[in-house]
Amino acid sequence: MHSLLNVFLVILVLILPLNFHSSAIQDHPQGNVQDTTVAQPLIPASARMEYAWDLPRNPLTDSLPSDSYLADQIRLGFRIFTNTPLEAPRFARNKMTCNDCHLNAGQREKSLPLVGIFGAFPEYNKRAGRLFSLEDRIVECFRRSMDAAGVQGVESNQTSNQDEIGPTTQSREVLAISSYISWLSIGYPVAKKVPWRGQNVIPPDKLIPINQLDPKRGEAIYMDKCITCHGEDGQGVQIGDKKAGPLWGPDSWNDAAGAARVYTLAGIIKYPMPYLDPGSLSDEEAQQIAAFIDSKPRPRYPFKERDYLTEKIPPDAVYYKR
Ligand code: HEC
Ligand code: HEC
Repeated sequence: MHSLLNVFLVILVLILPLNFHSSAIQDHPQGNVQDTTVAQPLIPASARMEYAWDLPRNPLTDSLPSDSYLADQIRLGFRIFTNTPLEAPRFARNKMTCNDCHLNAGQREKSLPLVGIFGAFPEYNKRAGRLFSLEDRIVECFRRSMDAAGVQGVESNQTSNQDEIGPTTQSREVLAISSYISWLSIGYPVAKKVPWRGQNVIPPDKLIPINQLDPKRGEAIYMDKCITCHGEDGQGVQIGDKKAGPLWGPDSWNDAAGAARVYTLAGIIKYPMPYLDPGSLSDEEAQQIAAFIDSKPRPRYPFKERDYLTEKIPPDAVYYKR
């Protein structure tokens, strides 16, 4: 009964139409390239779930580069990003969507925003021990967060090279998403960090050693604050046109994803969740819940032994054998 009432409240809130930041959506000058940045480039971290579809830049309505092929790719990338299982079925082995973790289509403060990140690549990647292009980084989220490693992609049919199994930097889905993210970066500097990058972290002095976290305590907080939208079974509850992705089990991220690291997941949870009261969790609560979620079974990434060959396995990568 209690949870029914909660669902009702959630729906009530969602049908109250408000568009508080529409002033932030500014018309882009017509022409080849937008030469300005948006006044308010990100949806604020405090915005609640009723703003889940608000976007400072929307490729379906804003002006796009005049090259119509590229414009189509930007729109396709956006559609894949916001509905991955439907738009990229061959690579979406689980039921996750990019938007589940990168909220507001990658345009929300403290939800792993992707606005302006084009200029940060190429960049050294610790897990792989090599330089990453933006496309390499997108492939990684496909292989791990969407569990697409081991999927026989079209590109891989002809090859026995295991590195080419599943999505590659040449896959059309990856290039379309890259077009969308590059478009989100128009107007931002190259090789200069945007201030909102890397903010989804628990402050180092607030980190609790992994062996002192208690999944039972995390489970109790989860049952109290999260099940209205995520369900007791963690598989997500349909609310209006939104349904969160599965938090564990065969349809969730795999055990080598960033979200399979307890501190990384705590950083994902801490700022936007619970979605009707973002920012209300303490650093400790976020870590306890993350320890609970990452104590659950999830798909196995088949190539874990190739990770962290040059760097040490981090303490919060709890699904790795050490
Ligand atoms: C389960 C959660 C999750 C899902 C789903 C997910 N990602 Fe990510 N993504 C992450 C995490 C965690 C990071 C690492 C952030 C960090 O290093 O600070 C990340 C990083 C990225 C980055 C690099 C950002 C940067 O600033 O360096 C890109 C690009 C990216 N993801 C794209 C995607 C795309 C495209 C999809 C869908 C195909 C996707 N992600 C799905 C969790 C997710
Ligand atoms: C009012 C509904 C609501 C509540 C309450 C809520 N969430 Fe969410 N959560 C969502 C929605 C919706 C998404 C997907 C966001 C999107 O697609 O725009 C999400 C996404 C997530 C994600 C990203 C990965 C995934 O599988 O979608 C995590 C992790 C998460 N929530 C954890 C939590 C935790 C932990 C709590 C409790 C502290 C919580 N949420 C409470 C609605 C909610």
